[in-house]
Amino acid sequence: MNEALRAITERSSTRGYQKEKIAPEVLEQLIKAGLEAPTAANKQEIHFSVIDGEAAVLQEIEDEKNRGFGLEQAPPNNFYYDAPTVIIVSGDKNFAWSELDAGIAVENIAIAAQALGLGSLIIGCVKNALRGEKEAEFAKKLDYPEGYEYKIAIALGYKATEKEPHTYDRDKQVSFIQ
Ligand SMILES: Cc1cc2nc3c(=O)[nH]c(=O)nc-3n(C[C@H](O)[C@H](O)[C@H](O)COP(=O)(O)O)c2cc1C
Repeated sequence: MNEALRAITERSSTRGYQKEKIAPEVLEQLIKAGLEAPTAANKQEIHFSVIDGEAAVLQEIEDEKNRGFGLEQAPPNNFYYDAPTVIIVSGDKNFAWSELDAGIAVENIAIAAQALGLGSLIIGCVKNALRGEKEAEFAKKLDYPEGYEYKIAIALGYKATEKEPHTYDRDKQVSFIQ
């Protein structure tokens, strides 16, 4: 199979990581994949906060997420499944395509991770935590550019668990128009 198509076909969400850090040159390739994603009008407005898995801010985001859930309903795992690296993608609050641009960028990173033998997990569940009462505090800690907000995140690292790629109903999801 074509290498790019194989990475797309074989990618799945990783919800368990080895402790091993991602080598700097590998991490750089993942960041490059994000930067190479297309953006609307080639605005290249999205920003990547590359966070070490041991950074205190991740636990602060986790605590804020769980405060929103109600502690008794908080899942046993943290939102990034102890991945050694998390990238938070932020975008301009006033640019209509930032959310889509951020989504395309994390998918580019996810495919690159798969191609390089790493796992990834796209993370939406921290949206309320990062856009809630503590938004300004987190924006500062995560070094967002002025006027930016959280759009999406991705956890990255070497896989400690394997999961089959999701299945789908091609006939339900696809229409051909003539
Ligand atoms: C926009 C978006 C947000 C997601 N947020 C989360 C999340 O917060 N936590 C999580 O465990 N998985 C999250 N996922 C992963 C999906 O649950 C996963 O992609 C889906 O179940 C399909 O499985 P697969 O990625 O293994 O193919 C998210 C995926 C997308 C695209």
